[in-house]
Amino acid sequence: MKIWREGKLRIGIKDKEDIKAMREGGKILGKILYEVGKMAKAGVTTLELDQHAEKMMKEMNVLPSFKGYHGYPNVICANVNEQVVHGIPTNYKLKDGDIVTIDCGVIHQKFHTDSAITVGIGSISPDAQKLINTAEKALKKAIETARPGIRIHEISGVIQDIVEEQGFGVVRDLVGHGIGHEMHEDPQVPNFRDKDRGPILQTGMTIAIEPIITMKKPDVKLLKDGWTFATKDGSLSVQVEHTILITEKGAEILTTRPT
Ligand code: MF3
Ligand code: CO
Repeated sequence: MKIWREGKLRIGIKDKEDIKAMREGGKILGKILYEVGKMAKAGVTTLELDQHAEKMMKEMNVLPSFKGYHGYPNVICANVNEQVVHGIPTNYKLKDGDIVTIDCGVIHQKFHTDSAITVGIGSISPDAQKLINTAEKALKKAIETARPGIRIHEISGVIQDIVEEQGFGVVRDLVGHGIGHEMHEDPQVPNFRDKDRGPILQTGMTIAIEPIITMKKPDVKLLKDGWTFATKDGSLSVQVEHTILITEKGAEILTTRPT
């Protein structure tokens, strides 16, 4: 791996072997999210989702990225309804009409991959479904936009426009990130146009794009557990995420899921 320098930023340019490791890790992560997502049904606790993810990691011989990260206790984050990110799994039983974001990361051959899905439990409100669809559309368009030669700013703008067009909020306090030997690396990948336009993308960079959006106001607060962020106004929130590789032609999703 070579290091690309731009200003104060240091960004790893992954070589063939690095990419192979991240592809394999990402595929395993996609499988875990797919299975845990299928398991998310009314009556199941978010801790059971976490335990299933941990069991799959052991079976597939990968390590959790989250567990132990600044003391984080679990292998997934489970964010129910107004919870935004970093929700600690608990004995809360999912119920009909809930939406739950499952965020997970694995380490395979010393490389991290990071991805999140949002699942509706039973029948959810049309508004909740629209919020999920909008986050997914923003992520898809962001990935289609990503290519060598553009700045991070362009990706951020695409996400912001799609989300705000629908009247939804874009969280400012939490952003996507570069990823490699560490889960969080340069550069930051905001979901909104920032003053800092960010670096120019190069072939071989790997980034985690993660629109984090809210039904109403984008302000968040930290709950008493010291980890979970929730919306201040109690409105619903959705996060979806993929780890991608910048290629000569555009971008490749590394955290693909079975279809
Ligand atoms: N997946 C989160 C992110 O995208 C990080 C989880 S933080 C942890 O940045 F503490 F929960 F590990
Ligand atoms: Co992330």
